[in-house]
Amino acid sequence: MFKNRSYCGELTTQDIDRHVMLAGWAEGVRNLGGIVFIEVRDVSGTLQVVVDSSKSPELIPAAEETRSEFVLKITGIVRKRDEKNINPGLPTGAIEVYADSIEILNRSEVPPIPIDAKDQIGEDARLRYRFLDLRRREMRDAIIKRHRAMQAARRFLSGSRFLEIETPMLNKSTPEGARDFLVPSRIHKGEFYALPQSPQLFKQILMISGFDRYFQIVKCFRDEDLRNDRQPEFTQIDMELSFVDADTIMEITEHLLQSIVKEIADRDISVPFPRRTYQEAMDRFGTDSPDTRFGLEIVDCSDIFHASDFNVFAAALAKGGIIRGVAVPDEGTISRKMIDRYAEEAAVYGAKGLPTFKYNNGSVEAGIAKFIKPEELSLLKPRFDLSGRHVLFFAADQKNIVRNTLANLRVKIARDLGLIDEDRMDFLWVTDFPLFEYSEADKRFYSRHHPFTAPKQEHAGRLGELAPEQADEILAQAYDVVLNGVEIGGGSIRINDSGVQNGIFKLLGIPEEEALVKFSFLLDALKYGAPPHGGIALGLDRILMLLLKKKSIRDVIAFPKTTKGQCLMSNAPSPVSREQLRELHLKIVGE
Ligand code: AMO
Ligand code: AMP
Repeated sequence: MFKNRSYCGELTTQDIDRHVMLAGWAEGVRNLGGIVFIEVRDVSGTLQVVVDSSKSPELIPAAEETRSEFVLKITGIVRKRDEKNINPGLPTGAIEVYADSIEILNRSEVPPIPIDAKDQIGEDARLRYRFLDLRRREMRDAIIKRHRAMQAARRFLSGSRFLEIETPMLNKSTPEGARDFLVPSRIHKGEFYALPQSPQLFKQILMISGFDRYFQIVKCFRDEDLRNDRQPEFTQIDMELSFVDADTIMEITEHLLQSIVKEIADRDISVPFPRRTYQEAMDRFGTDSPDTRFGLEIVDCSDIFHASDFNVFAAALAKGGIIRGVAVPDEGTISRKMIDRYAEEAAVYGAKGLPTFKYNNGSVEAGIAKFIKPEELSLLKPRFDLSGRHVLFFAADQKNIVRNTLANLRVKIARDLGLIDEDRMDFLWVTDFPLFEYSEADKRFYSRHHPFTAPKQEHAGRLGELAPEQADEILAQAYDVVLNGVEIGGGSIRINDSGVQNGIFKLLGIPEEEALVKFSFLLDALKYGAPPHGGIALGLDRILMLLLKKKSIRDVIAFPKTTKGQCLMSNAPSPVSREQLRELHLKIVGE
């Protein structure tokens, strides 16, 4: 019945005079009396259909009955539009189809959200009526581009000797640092599967089994606090390789990203990406996922203020803290009110204030200007490269608070002042992460990545005698890839020696028996000829969000969850029947 159907968005002036069949939804109907225009939409785009009563009066009743979102089958002749009616805003705007038959295949109630909306629709309504929201051009484009990105990744990786291998969803817990989603077992009373936080253990096993290049476009599940770039289930382009070093993995990843960007943004990105060490990123940008599309770099001033009269500075240094600042070139647009607002935001990151002063052609004004000594100013000038007019913002506190405050401030200011070139794509590798962090509260070391990450070769020998204050000194063979200030991927070279692996567990305070229970199969496998191996996982949703310039990953996922982890369309999560609970040997506490 629809055998020779044409796609609305694919007809062009090449098709003029052709007789075609269209099938799709009425996006808008305009009745001019005697002539009815119907905008018909299918997955490829929209096309204007004309029903002319002087030529086909028998079609008028169906055309007049048609409302938005009715499903139609239309046949007719493709015509060139009159010069004055050409719509340059529409890819098919130079043509239209003169109908010779219209069949209403199905009717629609009045849609609760407008489909051709140029105006803003509330996100809750969009998620509630996702089946309609996905009909909107923006969403359709995103979903189609997502498909193309996945195909580009598959093509590239398959062409580079990678095998696509599936790993299980019903698992034992994987250690990626988030909470697990658990699935109760009906057959094994009181026992649970965990949904994978990543295929980490299985992909390493595949290396040991000899599949020396693996990839998978795979769902991962993490029960963590959600944000605009975090979903409880999300998709990774996951890879693992044997007989490679970190440089090779990074190079392959760059080429993979190149092919994805080319496919969906039609842009050529240059490789290799710049690299920064973790230390450098933290010092200059305050974060391990820096946005390098603008300056406003963070500068240390602790030494300059060693004898400061400003009690906040003096107190911070006395408590072992640091003083760092950001200098913003300003021709007078930064108002008192903006500065107050930045100070309020600084408080969110734990700063107790945001000392500020203005530099104006050699002199200092406002804020803490009265505390700035001439000898301090003469040191600040070259360090911040001050000239003309600047506003300087400082944070004085413990290192992590200072970093966090200024990292967020510089992005905020750059956005407010329009310093970010939204067309730029700044890819960046961050390397040399510390392997561990030490928790004062728990009095123990934790892995920053996961416990299978290899230390740098030259540091491996020090694991036995590591003191808490040296936690930062052991560096990992780990790397993250960042795009415009968002971490889009991360990976590492793995430990392939069970002795080193046990050393790490010992340092992490995971007793051998516990490690055996948790990761027994990996530890076991490591004994039987594990090749040197490593890998990386890219966050597909985040990459798409950035390339398609969306504010949230929800806009590149067909059926996302809200930040409260709900699906507003299906109403998941939801209660289950007592019977189901009984079968699973579960009881809701408090019932
Ligand atoms: P990691 O935990 O860094 O590494 O995850 C890899 C990438 O996945 C994306 N990502 C997320 N995207 C959306 N929502 C989330 N909740 C979410 N969590 C992570 C990020 C991140 O960079 N097994 C290791 C990889 C490896 O070592 O090979 C892993 O999962 O873009
Ligand atoms: P004041 O002396 O209270 O006018 O503060 C001068 C500057 O120091 C202002 O910019 C405040 O934001 C900042 N400030 C005040 N108290 C603190 C604090 N405890 N820590 C950091 N900055 C502070």
